[in-house]
Amino acid sequence: MPRIELRNITKKFGDFVAVDNLTLDIKDGDFITLLGPSGCGKTTTLRQIAGLEMPTSGEILIDGKVVFSSDKSIDVAPKDRGVGFLFQNYALWPHMTVYRNIAFGLENLKWKKDDIDRRVKELLKLLKIEEFPDRYPAELSGGQQQRVAIARTLATNPRVLLMDEPLSNLDAKLRMEMRAELKRLHHETGATFVYVTHDQLEAMTLATKICLLDRGYLQQYDPPLTVYNRPRNTFVADFVGNPTMNLISFSGERKDDHSCILHHKDMRLQFTSQDVLPEDLGKVTIGVRPENVLVTENGGIKVKVDTSLPSGMETILNLRLGDDVMLSCVMIGSVDYPSDSEIEVVFKDVQVLMFDGEGNFAAPGSVKFI
Ligand SMILES: Nc1ncnc2c1ncn2[C@@H]1O[C@H](COP(=O)(O)OP(=O)(O)O)[C@@H](O)[C@H]1O
Ligand SMILES: [Mg+2]
Repeated sequence: MPRIELRNITKKFGDFVAVDNLTLDIKDGDFITLLGPSGCGKTTTLRQIAGLEMPTSGEILIDGKVVFSSDKSIDVAPKDRGVGFLFQNYALWPHMTVYRNIAFGLENLKWKKDDIDRRVKELLKLLKIEEFPDRYPAELSGGQQQRVAIARTLATNPRVLLMDEPLSNLDAKLRMEMRAELKRLHHETGATFVYVTHDQLEAMTLATKICLLDRGYLQQYDPPLTVYNRPRNTFVADFVGNPTMNLISFSGERKDDHSCILHHKDMRLQFTSQDVLPEDLGKVTIGVRPENVLVTENGGIKVKVDTSLPSGMETILNLRLGDDVMLSCVMIGSVDYPSDSEIEVVFKDVQVLMFDGEGNFAAPGSVKFI
């Protein structure tokens, strides 16, 4: 199955740069999610891979073959790129049965009747919709319609499947189910999947690698857990994770290469890292994931409970630290602290991240309140 390579892809609409010099190597059999806030260039990137939008400059290769090159004036038509697409508004043909919806593309390609029948049955089974080949779309639930749309896209055996927020019309429970289905499908087809979403949880759970964009710029391209644990900058740190990472600004004083004292108003703490700390510690940001804020009996820093939100499996605490810092904390299980009660917290060792004055990741470490 093919590899997709984007080389220095830039897309301008007039003067507006929608995708800015994007270079991306999507490996054979990967499941990539293009993630980022609305308007960051996800759909434009996907449409350029599909051949539906022409890059202003750069090169795209699929399976080692140049399908677009601004320098060489190559622009292979969408139908000759061997890709299948599934968009948000995947209208099924209402006057055709499930069977015909899936078979239609193959009839157009003049497949033999027996081959079509075999392929449609294979897909009905793969998508677990064998029971209703004779129903019309209106007689199906949203999730079932979605499956038919996926079967229709897979019918011609595309080597690359491009999907643009395909689950956004489904309710929360169905989305969860369909995510699992997509993962299974990826495994069973062995195709290369490129999947657009603005939902960080969806990106985290599905992808082998996340490509996180902001205003047309690539922010990070790494496996989900790397993006989560080693975000390259504060934008990434803030975008991935729910509740979001606690980001607190400090000014620091170097003690030695591996430790410093950090100040924020009356708060003082010592930060220690295995890595060498940045030269300039004048202004740094400390990032702590909510699950790494641990409630302790003693030896922590005092915080005030603002709100406590138990949901059964876990509890989200919003905590006030000093007079201007809010901290969120996630605990497994149900605990209901009354508002304004005082508790103590520590930050889990080596899970605290330091970002430099520009907001770029500098070092992981541990903190002690002093
Ligand atoms: N055909 C177009 N003409 C002008 N601007 C466009 C066009 N298509 C997209 N854009 C702009 O390019 C940016 C990226 O769009 P898009 O790729 O659709 O974002 P996303 O899918 O990440 O929400 C947006 O600011 C959008 O308004
Ligand atoms: Mg979009």
